[in-house]
Amino acid sequence: MDNQDMKKKAAGEKAAEFVKDGMVVGLGSGSTMYWAIKKLGDLVKEGISIKGIPSSVRTADWAKEFGVPLTDFSEVQRIDLAIDGADEIDPAFGCIKGGGGSLLREKIVDAAADQFIVVADDSKLVSVLGQFPLPVEVVPFGYEVVKEQIAGLGCEPVLRMKGDQPFITDNQNVILDCSFLEIKDPQKLHDQLKSLIGVVETGLFIHMADIVVAGRSTGVEILK
Ligand code: 5RP
Repeated sequence: MDNQDMKKKAAGEKAAEFVKDGMVVGLGSGSTMYWAIKKLGDLVKEGISIKGIPSSVRTADWAKEFGVPLTDFSEVQRIDLAIDGADEIDPAFGCIKGGGGSLLREKIVDAAADQFIVVADDSKLVSVLGQFPLPVEVVPFGYEVVKEQIAGLGCEPVLRMKGDQPFITDNQNVILDCSFLEIKDPQKLHDQLKSLIGVVETGLFIHMADIVVAGRSTGVEILK
């Protein structure tokens, strides 16, 4: 395991400690979340009773593998605590998410939570969002039109591919990765993108996170 993976593991495991008996837990996606879900499986084996709502098919598979009981929004409409990874985190805890392609379900889960904890290694902490290409989930029909419109906002959107085929999300949409380099006003950009017909959701998670659990070489730091 390399240094970055060690930090992800430490952050994921630490975040799982915020989960208490009886909670409904939003389960985010990504490699840092793998460790949080694995730790939650240990806590369930030790006797705590929780229910998880997964934000991706992959996360649901991990939860099943580690013995974390799952539920869904047909049973519960509020989540006590969501834990999720991020691709970039700014000082105001604004995040870019969706590197793994799960941004829509992640945002639904994270927004339904009373408390939202972001877990990441410290390479994700940035002063300004935008170096990581912003994922924008778009319906496949006419995505070429949306691509042109997003280009007009100051980037060169790239259709995410998986091999020689477009990457398809769990919601049967495509993703445009939009490299803005520097997003000075994330809320404004989010609003501009959401106003485009065909855009389903953006990977900008603004004013959502309450706590950041960051894995550093020196240990885990909890930012509030
Ligand atoms: C998936 C995500 C992930 O949380 C994000 O990409 C971080 O992943 P990782 O923990 O593997 O670095 O938003 O859509």
